[in-house]
Amino acid sequence: MPVVDQLNMVSKTPRHVAVIMDGNGRWARQRGWPRSRGHLEGAKAVRECVEACLELGIEYLTLYAFSTENWQRPKEEVDTLMGLLQRFLRDYTRDMAKRGVRVQAIGRLNELPPECQDQLEHAITTTANNKQLTAILAINYSGRTEIIDAVQRLAKDVAAGKLPPDSIDAELFSSFLYTRDLPDPDLLIRTSGEMRISNFLLWQVSYTEMYVIPKLWPDFSRQDLVDAIDEYNRRQRRYGGV
Ligand code: IPE
Ligand code: IPE
Ligand code: MG
Repeated sequence: MPVVDQLNMVSKTPRHVAVIMDGNGRWARQRGWPRSRGHLEGAKAVRECVEACLELGIEYLTLYAFSTENWQRPKEEVDTLMGLLQRFLRDYTRDMAKRGVRVQAIGRLNELPPECQDQLEHAITTTANNKQLTAILAINYSGRTEIIDAVQRLAKDVAAGKLPPDSIDAELFSSFLYTRDLPDPDLLIRTSGEMRISNFLLWQVSYTEMYVIPKLWPDFSRQDLVDAIDEYNRRQRRYGGV
């Protein structure tokens, strides 16, 4: 069944879907291939996911592409991931620009290789006025560093007398995060079966619905996204109420 028809059966589309794209390495290992091949296939799954979000009318898609902890991996793998990111942006930005995708990024972006920063900057500026879907790449991202960066900036404003400490509430704190202009995720998808958050959007997922599937990220398809939304629709979000 085409995704658009399936959409009609879906009553509530989550506004913001966040994805922990996990399992590229295992996907490759299962085939006796190098991990880099898994990352390459993973990048193809990203394109499919972006396209499915466009069709389903999702407004925000946040993709966890590289964590601050991922620098601990062998240099060769880190280089592959940074290279793939550049290639993804180089090959796909024009298409995303045409299809109404606005690219954004969260994380300590200034610590990325300069070529990566340039590609990212180019993708962000060329797509800045798009309105269909905002695709947010979390790169050199972790929830704790995001919170630390926010606290440092807040503390500076307090020390400079610009901000009375009593005025700090959840809303004000959120406005200091990288995600200041984004709604919190409604649905968090993690592939490869791992039941953990791995330092992703720690503040923002306080009431996000979680959906974990055993499938490895390179195998993630449109249908998996439709299934996730279907499951999301069966959930009752209570936010601590009755
Ligand atoms: C996810 O796949 C991609 C990144 C973390 C960059 P992994 O590389 O973590 O694959 P597994 O979890 O080792 O299988
Ligand atoms: C989470 O996956 C980070 C990304 C998907 C970019 P990891 O593979 O790094 O997480 P752990 O090590 O299984 O917690
Ligand atoms: Mg992993």
